[in-house]
Amino acid sequence: MSAELKVELGKRSYPIIIGSGLLDEVGRLCREALPARTALVVTDTNVGPLYAERVRDSLTRRDFETTLHTVPAGETSKSRERLFEIYDAALDARLDRRSLIVALGGGVVGDLAGFAAATFLRGIAYVQVPTTLLAMVDSSVGGKTGINLPQGKNLVGAFHQPRAVVADLHTLATLPTREYRAGLAEVVKYGVIRDADLFAELENHAAEILDRNDQLLEKIIRRCCAVKADVVASDERESGLRAILNFGHTLGHALENLEGYGKLLHGEAVALGMVYAALLSEKITGLPHTDTIRLAALLRSLGLLEPIPPRPWPEIAARMNLDKKVARGRPHFVLAEKIGRVRPGHPLADHLLEDTWHSLETLLKGGADVGGK
Ligand SMILES: NC(=O)c1ccc[n+]([C@@H]2O[C@H](COP(=O)([O-])OP(=O)(O)OC[C@H]3O[C@@H](n4cnc5c(N)ncnc54)[C@H](O)[C@@H]3O)[C@@H](O)[C@H]2O)c1
Ligand SMILES: [Zn+2]
Repeated sequence: MSAELKVELGKRSYPIIIGSGLLDEVGRLCREALPARTALVVTDTNVGPLYAERVRDSLTRRDFETTLHTVPAGETSKSRERLFEIYDAALDARLDRRSLIVALGGGVVGDLAGFAAATFLRGIAYVQVPTTLLAMVDSSVGGKTGINLPQGKNLVGAFHQPRAVVADLHTLATLPTREYRAGLAEVVKYGVIRDADLFAELENHAAEILDRNDQLLEKIIRRCCAVKADVVASDERESGLRAILNFGHTLGHALENLEGYGKLLHGEAVALGMVYAALLSEKITGLPHTDTIRLAALLRSLGLLEPIPPRPWPEIAARMNLDKKVARGRPHFVLAEKIGRVRPGHPLADHLLEDTWHSLETLLKGGADVGGK
């Protein structure tokens, strides 16, 4: 079983194939996408031992000459050192301008290998084979690639679209629970920004989703990718609409950053950020409070929205002002009008931001009426 979507970008359009057991089809799908002879498979130390051999076998069956390159698992691999090691591996494997890089792993491998592909020999083809929920619904689609610098995340990068995205749901079976749940925060985000039916589906099937029911997951991931593909197709380089994908991310990034990467996972931070954005929305767009409550209840039922250690507001405000997305001066917030519809980019008054932070703290402590639907 598999489902196919397309990111419509003219000559750079590409398919997103979602299904079970697709790792064995990677060779065929890459062959359909391009006539390359050599392929460098980039993966990490967790994913490689589990899945690299199957991917390489499938590429070999379609006459690709493959080399495997493994980076240490974790965010620190999005570094210049690991990037240059990929260039070395690519040269050793005699990749040329018609060769292919296969990014097999989560968002870290996807961003790193994608950036290597964007820059090696001024750009070669790559295919995304995402193995985390976050990578399947978010990072593998849309062509943003990059690495971190010691000064901050994603400071060097390029837009470089993959030739295909191949998401094998079976790989999610080995994903640690915490990573899986964090990925669900991004799934909820798509419901809030564009798809009220998806949101309702998540509310109705939270337990099965936590059980990683394949059929349900295929449907859900497909809908998330459809939203992302559509937004990317209309605003590839984030000059406007694409910013709605940052719903929950302004506060989310600040918290992720303050707690320290790895302590609070990206999705966990975004879950908090989304409830914060919903509380702000109540004051600006008139989002009904019941929608905020629904959002908080859904996130809780998915195991998200754990309280975080108390933090003084000025620390958080200062961190939000550092975010690169606030280059124009003040942090911007994507606000919800109702579940399923948002409007991009509002700068808001400081006192409002602070008051709302305290409302979020109260809500997390269970002081507000957020228990059930
Ligand atoms: N390019 C984009 O548009 C975009 C969007 C969102 C996030 N990102 C980036 O994505 C990165 C986060 O991605 P992530 O959450 O996938 O993290 P990740 O790649 O670090 O993966 C999380 C952990 O799960 C392990 N893992 C991956 N797949 C597994 C599997 N199937 N079974 C067992 N273990 C597995 C990894 O080794 C790692 O330890 C960040 O660097 C972020 O900046 C990029
Ligand atoms: Zn995100």
